[in-house]
Amino acid sequence: MSITFHSDGSIAHLTNGTISYVIELLDHTYLLHRYFSQAIRAWHGTGVTLPSKRSYTTEYADGTQNLYFDALPFEYPTPGRGDYRLPALTAEGPSGAAVVDLKFCSWQVLPQKPTVPGLPMTFSAPDESETLEIVCSDPVAGIKVHLYYTIFRDLNIITRHQRMENTGNTAIRLRNVQSLSLELPARDYELLTLYGCHAKEANQSRALLHQGVQRIGSCYGSSSPRHQPFFALLQPGTAEQTGEVYGFQLIYSGNFSAAVEKDTFGQVRAQIGLNPDTFTWTLEPGKAFDTPEAVLNYSTNGLNGMRQGFHKLIRNHIMPPRWRDAQRPVLLNSWEAMYYDVNLDKIETQAQLAKELGIELFVLDDGWFRAGNDSRSSMGDWTCNQNKLPGGIDRVASIVHAKGLTFGLWFEPEAVSPNSQLYRTHPDWIVHVPSYAPVKGRHEYLLDLGRAEVRQYLLDMLHGYLAGGQIDYIKWDMNRPLTDVVSSALPPERQGEAAHRYILGLYAVLDEITRCYPDVLFEGCSSGGARFDAGMLHYFPQNWTSDNTDACDRVTIQSGFDLLYPQSAMGAHVSITPNHQTGRSTTLDTRYQVCRLYNLGYELDLTLCTPEERDEIARQIAAYKAQRSWLMTGTLFHSQSSDQNCTAWSVVSPDQTQCMMIVFQKLYNPLASCARFALCSLDPASDYRDTATGKVYGGDELMQIGLTVPLVKHDFTTFCFHLVKI
Ligand code: GLA
Repeated sequence: MSITFHSDGSIAHLTNGTISYVIELLDHTYLLHRYFSQAIRAWHGTGVTLPSKRSYTTEYADGTQNLYFDALPFEYPTPGRGDYRLPALTAEGPSGAAVVDLKFCSWQVLPQKPTVPGLPMTFSAPDESETLEIVCSDPVAGIKVHLYYTIFRDLNIITRHQRMENTGNTAIRLRNVQSLSLELPARDYELLTLYGCHAKEANQSRALLHQGVQRIGSCYGSSSPRHQPFFALLQPGTAEQTGEVYGFQLIYSGNFSAAVEKDTFGQVRAQIGLNPDTFTWTLEPGKAFDTPEAVLNYSTNGLNGMRQGFHKLIRNHIMPPRWRDAQRPVLLNSWEAMYYDVNLDKIETQAQLAKELGIELFVLDDGWFRAGNDSRSSMGDWTCNQNKLPGGIDRVASIVHAKGLTFGLWFEPEAVSPNSQLYRTHPDWIVHVPSYAPVKGRHEYLLDLGRAEVRQYLLDMLHGYLAGGQIDYIKWDMNRPLTDVVSSALPPERQGEAAHRYILGLYAVLDEITRCYPDVLFEGCSSGGARFDAGMLHYFPQNWTSDNTDACDRVTIQSGFDLLYPQSAMGAHVSITPNHQTGRSTTLDTRYQVCRLYNLGYELDLTLCTPEERDEIARQIAAYKAQRSWLMTGTLFHSQSSDQNCTAWSVVSPDQTQCMMIVFQKLYNPLASCARFALCSLDPASDYRDTATGKVYGGDELMQIGLTVPLVKHDFTTFCFHLVKI
């Protein structure tokens, strides 16, 4: 791994032997992007668009070089001086004009990647990554920008973030601060994004990039289920295992923007960062602003290559290290079994049955603090309803612990019911615009986490529950998007900061609470996967994937999310049939097979299961426990049959001695021939035994040819293959 500079000081080259990233300094003034792709030994000027005369544009320097601002591949582009494409930084300096002219000051390799307190960022040991810092400034605007590029030793990944400093005497208004801007050569690309809604998150959208700007994002206050803070640019025809992919991800949980511009001449500029539509920031003299960190992932092995790069980065450099390789408990969640109508008898009965089946954690979901059996009251007070649960949470925890299970509890700390003591006492604590009636979402308002006293209230409340050591797991939910985004902690001219300050406030609370209780397992949730992002995974090692537990829909939802997040980060629960969200019926085996490569849980009333079904569940859990350590840390692959009717996931253990492949057949189709799936990442020189049939296959054979799936006359059917090296 190395970051080197050309002897004349005009080129910086970051490489780890697999990828290279090249920046050229034009006339010792402007940073140009020259290359990001497979590793090269050195860059000697290849691939540069040759200067040619253009009109209706503005000349760079004296114009004799036929270089134009709107054609140069700027590393961190700014507006107002002739580059009319998407800017990465827009700021109003003392003149009030949104003009920034960033010029190079210095570059250096840092001994250690700088961290930004308060933001979720990648971390690494000194020998695992190297960071380049480039400083640029515009003395007229009074701004200095530090650009950070971190390259990881064994990943096809570079991360980027910026620090803006006000070096002048007057305040600067930041209007747009992208975390990453990348120039790509003129050619065809497909744009891949993940879109969705509640209970149908993370669907893949794929279309040819066309001239103009294509943009996704969120202004919901959270990353939202509408789009993941992610996109990828693909070589047309890219498949799961083949094709060139540039993947972009933002480590952030709030409003974001992801935009790609294909200019008139076919050149491409791709950016990801805070959403400029919902952001402004007043930077006082002497102060600094840090952008969230963005991830740039390069793969020549199609979507699986990108998937594995993101997984490794998240597991090894983003998630709390305590949970990186830790086995997750098999859980029973009360939600679909009891909804709000919880009581001690039900809990005790479910916990007893759960223990008998091998379940390890019982989670009491919503309902325990509510005055009634709906979502209309009590949020924010967080006092247990003693009529439902006499003796309170301590008693519930004791009952569950006495059964030999660990105990988990649901909270939605950011929300408050209008009908609550907290709201009656502190109506000003919510995010709201004075003199507008605040808008409700799921009958709730949101607390202004930008206010220190609100954060302290939440911390005191959470410490109150956690300090006793009775709670082993917390499900942290958040069930509505932000509206009326005004913080009473800010003056009117700074309200553009409120949405970002909400997220910074959230991170501050999460940071303290997860540091204080490192052994408590936290699971993020937001009406399912509405705030499932790499920012949250920095604090919470796992997330509830979707409120939709239907096996068929889960295939799509999980296949979308696991393009970005490792299997150990995703909760997957077996629920009752017909499914509560879709009304669809599937077998218990199908429901389990679709979950077993992720964090397995059950979310159903166990008293409604027949004795045979309970026996089957016990067998499922035993089989899961026998494999989970390598399944959770192994390498995940996807593939699809050409008619998209069959989806296969496979996990290969880190030491290549085991492989499990699950195939889901959506509908029986008499027209289809048997689907065949080639495996990946096995040892080609070794043989593997199929544990179900005893048949032995060569690793090379399995990877070149693959396993054939029988044609079965059932819809929503799964097949499981478990191969062990002999
Ligand atoms: C959200 C979550 C569910 C459940 C309910 C409880 O919808 O996604 O899993 O916790 O809230 O109100």
